[in-house]
Amino acid sequence: MAETDMSKTDEQTVARTDLATVRVGFIGYGHMAQAVALGLVHAGMPGGNIRACAMTWDKLVATTASIGAIPCHDAREVVEASDVVFIAVKPQVVDTACASIVDALVGKVVVSVAWGITYDDYEDILMSGTAHVSTVPNIPVCVDEGVWAVEDRDSLDPGQAALVQALLSATGLVVRVPAALLNAVGTVTGCGPAFAAMIVEAFGDAAVKHGVPRALSYKLVEQMLGGTSKMLLESGQHPAALKDAVCSPGGTTIRGVAKLEECGMRSAAIQAIDEILG
Ligand SMILES: NC(=O)c1ccc[n+]([C@@H]2O[C@H](COP(=O)([O-])OP(=O)(O)OC[C@H]3O[C@@H](n4cnc5c(N)ncnc54)[C@H](OP(=O)(O)O)[C@@H]3O)[C@@H](O)[C@H]2O)c1
Repeated sequence: MAETDMSKTDEQTVARTDLATVRVGFIGYGHMAQAVALGLVHAGMPGGNIRACAMTWDKLVATTASIGAIPCHDAREVVEASDVVFIAVKPQVVDTACASIVDALVGKVVVSVAWGITYDDYEDILMSGTAHVSTVPNIPVCVDEGVWAVEDRDSLDPGQAALVQALLSATGLVVRVPAALLNAVGTVTGCGPAFAAMIVEAFGDAAVKHGVPRALSYKLVEQMLGGTSKMLLESGQHPAALKDAVCSPGGTTIRGVAKLEECGMRSAAIQAIDEILG
């Protein structure tokens, strides 16, 4: 999928980029890095184009093996064999993880997925002239249905921007936002999969209460949510218009809508995000 802001890129360069020709590296290979790597492999990148390093060797060997990626003993080995380097360690260790490789990162394209580490931070961490961009992806990148919130300020040249655009859009929707909005966008999309999974569970329980077998109930709700989202994304229809369209006057759906309002569903969603963002 690829709804993208192409303003900084050459559309033809993006179309021409063949994932099989790009070599990517991950500094840190935990949940997020593995999700991105899996998404890239689903999108057509050979696993052998992917290198990664982490702190625990045995774990790294096991996690890279599942997609045929190459485990590396240190970060320099990853950087030297990669065109694009994802910084995928926890935000509090970005500084130390980059310290020993800043010279090797010059001439590479650095894509950060570390939440809260922005363009300005990397201007201090990396050597002058290093090409870098800060992003916040979410876990569904592993099935190429993710969201990439990308800071609208970077130090990529047009060719590098096109390459990054091609990589990210292969695994999800790419949206460019100012640094001030990265946290809000990242919270809704990054934490959202947990909330969506709770909604699947909740409507699944409701179906089970009324006799639908458990496994079938989850499958039905997952398809219903995915299908509804796809309809809204593809049509651009306002969500309220879709809701209105399926609520017949005096019908059953509007009774359910009224009960969800009475139970504070909308307010609960807003309060959940407030709780995180403060
Ligand atoms: N998880 C999400 O949904 C999500 C969403 C958006 C953004 N992010 C961002 O993604 C980044 C990674 O998060 P995560 O959830 O994937 O964390 P994680 O599962 O804890 O993975 C962190 C990885 O970094 C490795 N590591 C730690 N220190 C290192 C160092 N000095 N050099 C090289 N590797 C090092 C760890 O190795 P060991 O496991 O061997 O210790 C591990 O492979 C974070 O900055 C987070 O903000 C995550």
